[in-house]
Amino acid sequence: MGGARMVLYVFLAAFVIAFVSCALPTELQSKIAKINEEGPYIGIIVPNNFEINPLLHNPSYIPSDTIIDFAGKRFRFGAICDKPVILVMTGLSLINAGITSQLLLSFFNIEGVVHYGTAGNANPSLHIGDVVIPQFWAHLTLWSWQRYGEGPDDMLPLEEQGDFSREIGHLKFADFTSNVSADSEADNQLNNIWFQPEEIFPTYGIPEKRQHAFWVPVHSKYYHIAKKLQDVELNRCINTTTCLSVTPKVWLVPTGISHSLYLDNAAYTSFLYKKFKASSVDMESASVALVCLQQRVPFIIIRSLFELAGGGSTETDHPDLFLSLASSNSVTVVVEFVKLLSLHANI
Ligand SMILES: *[C@@H]1O[C@H](CO)[C@@H](O)[C@H](O)[C@H]1NC(C)=O
Ligand SMILES: *[C@@H]1O[C@H](CO)[C@@H](O)[C@H](O)[C@H]1NC(C)=O
Repeated sequence: MGGARMVLYVFLAAFVIAFVSCALPTELQSKIAKINEEGPYIGIIVPNNFEINPLLHNPSYIPSDTIIDFAGKRFRFGAICDKPVILVMTGLSLINAGITSQLLLSFFNIEGVVHYGTAGNANPSLHIGDVVIPQFWAHLTLWSWQRYGEGPDDMLPLEEQGDFSREIGHLKFADFTSNVSADSEADNQLNNIWFQPEEIFPTYGIPEKRQHAFWVPVHSKYYHIAKKLQDVELNRCINTTTCLSVTPKVWLVPTGISHSLYLDNAAYTSFLYKKFKASSVDMESASVALVCLQQRVPFIIIRSLFELAGGGSTETDHPDLFLSLASSNSVTVVVEFVKLLSLHANI
């Protein structure tokens, strides 16, 4: 066989395999159609194993026999207090969370989304183990990085045509300089980064005609229901001897932030609180929010704080210690939320 022909066959074989594994097989389509008749479902989106496991083992979660595996994701079906739910794990960070959220909403009959997990804390008045429910979410790793020598009065590249803007504000690296001598002003060649709103293409818009979104509000009715969660009792101890110093509580807070980065830096964390009033800092939530916004699906996000995102305290010297406690606290609140949701079916 000629080399070129061989290459062609290999190429075709790869194409066939790729086609077979990516398209939605007929059998799967009918399985999805059948399961959708039993909806609508609450979609529960969870980042990682250690966060989904406490829900899988929670007595209020009744799994059904159905599982659908697709595109590397596992969709688990069940109920919480008679409310049909679909559980899916995203894996770490914003791209995984975006893909998973879109798959969930594209394939299944979803009436609303609950996203939960653990988070870093940027709010100095909150504590490890607290569960926060922010009203607005933003993705904060879309930047225009400004060239050295230019400042707030200078246009950003592509600003004129509406790609980027200076509306949200910036971070100036020189502001974070330490040990500056009194006779010279701090300077930094990294200059400024300008935070950018996301380009979105909502189902209710014109295809390919972009809109912009920065703060994404959670669903107003869900947020209203969440106000009833503020007295939910949360765990303080991991066992009989190791406890948090303050009993955790549920807080409704103004904002949460997501980045494609793991934040372990106190200076940036405190900037986030000062500039954006951020309480919760994580790596997935804003993706879920942005997908739900564009698909016009109600959502809420519940995050439990397990560390101080770079700040110190005796409790955060061992963040792993309270990670499982934080995970199980978020699950407690999620279960209560879904129960309330089934009581408020008609609002
Ligand atoms: C300033 O520099 C000194 C000596 O290098 C160091 O010990 C100190 O921690 C620095 N302070 C800050 C705020 O970085
Ligand atoms: C409680 O957990 C801590 C941390 O894992 C451990 O050091 C301690 O021995 C545990 N106490 C009991 C009574 O199991």
